Amino acid sequence: MRVLIGGGSGFVGRELIQMLRGKGHEVTIISRQPGPGRITWAALESGGLPHCEGVVNLAGENIMNPMRWWNNHYKKDLVSSRVDTTRALAHAIAASTTPPHSWVLITGVACYKPCLQTQYTEDSEWVPFDFLSQLVKEWEEAAHLPENAAKNTRQVVIRPGAVLGRDGGAMKQMLTPFRLGLGGPLGSGRQPFPWIHVSDLAGIIAQSLEPSRSPLSPHPEVFNGVAPSLKTNFEFTKELGHLLKWPTMFPVPGFFLDTVLGSERAVILTQGQRVIPKRTLESGYKFQYQDLRSALQEIVRN
Ligand SMILES: NC(=O)c1ccc[n+]([C@@H]2O[C@H](COP(=O)([O-])OP(=O)(O)OC[C@H]3O[C@@H](n4cnc5c(N)ncnc54)[C@H](OP(=O)(O)O)[C@@H]3O)[C@@H](O)[C@H]2O)c1
Repeated sequence: MRVLIGGGSGFVGRELIQMLRGKGHEVTIISRQPGPGRITWAALESGGLPHCEGVVNLAGENIMNPMRWWNNHYKKDLVSSRVDTTRALAHAIAASTTPPHSWVLITGVACYKPCLQTQYTEDSEWVPFDFLSQLVKEWEEAAHLPENAAKNTRQVVIRPGAVLGRDGGAMKQMLTPFRLGLGGPLGSGRQPFPWIHVSDLAGIIAQSLEPSRSPLSPHPEVFNGVAPSLKTNFEFTKELGHLLKWPTMFPVPGFFLDTVLGSERAVILTQGQRVIPKRTLESGYKFQYQDLRSALQEIVRN
């Protein structure tokens, strides 16, 4: 299979590419920078979709970039880097004379309203309630294929929680403070912490790239990209501190995170959603890292 991956040069993309190449697939990245094995977004818009069987979009300005202040300029970049790239791919797929059999978009669990009790599955109804949930709405809408194109191409949306892996994402930013003994529960620590190991997210994407065995729906299939074992931020912090053999008794106050990150962004850390991968499990996907300890052991060991 030939697979085209928007934003494939990043943290999740590197893991996915390694997995796909290991299975004998060919991969081309769409990037802002030209290079071997890449095309640019401008080339996609001018030249149309290169011949491929699967398309994935992972592109997006990093939401937790510590070097960027939370302001309108940054928020505009967060939206346009996701919505415009997704729309460009959906248009190119719809216009293709040899459309791919699968089109997979990776968004996030920010669509579900943070709550200590409510459990969310892919069947849960949701409406936007803040900046990030509105972003997810626009992002997923941009991926929709028109009816005639949806007859040829399987549409999938995967909503991951915090993606854990040694080469990027949340862990890369967290390991240094933890190793210095400065890691502690964030805010109350009671908030749910939906998480997934990067190998499992790559595995769910790879499974979603397979042609559908059932008739194609005009609507996307949604899969929650979270591990089946639910944890709170406190439990996550204790587990990581235990593995690193460092104390985690000093909580990081919510007001501090609000000030440093901006309150609309700090919610990613200080609040959380109890997300269940119901349809992901029903799809037959077998998680490699079901429990947090085994996931963290793999990351810390390396
Ligand atoms: N990592 C997580 O914990 C997590 C959790 C939930 C959802 N997600 C979502 O999953 C996707 C992949 O995550 P990731 O951690 O692999 O992301 P990443 O490494 O931060 O970025 C992926 C790629 O996006 C491209 N990109 C960055 N800024 C861009 C901009 N302003 N305009 C266009 N392209 C831009 C870059 O590719 P080029 O430099 O080659 O153009 C980059 O390699 C993202 O959409 C992210 O929001 C991630």
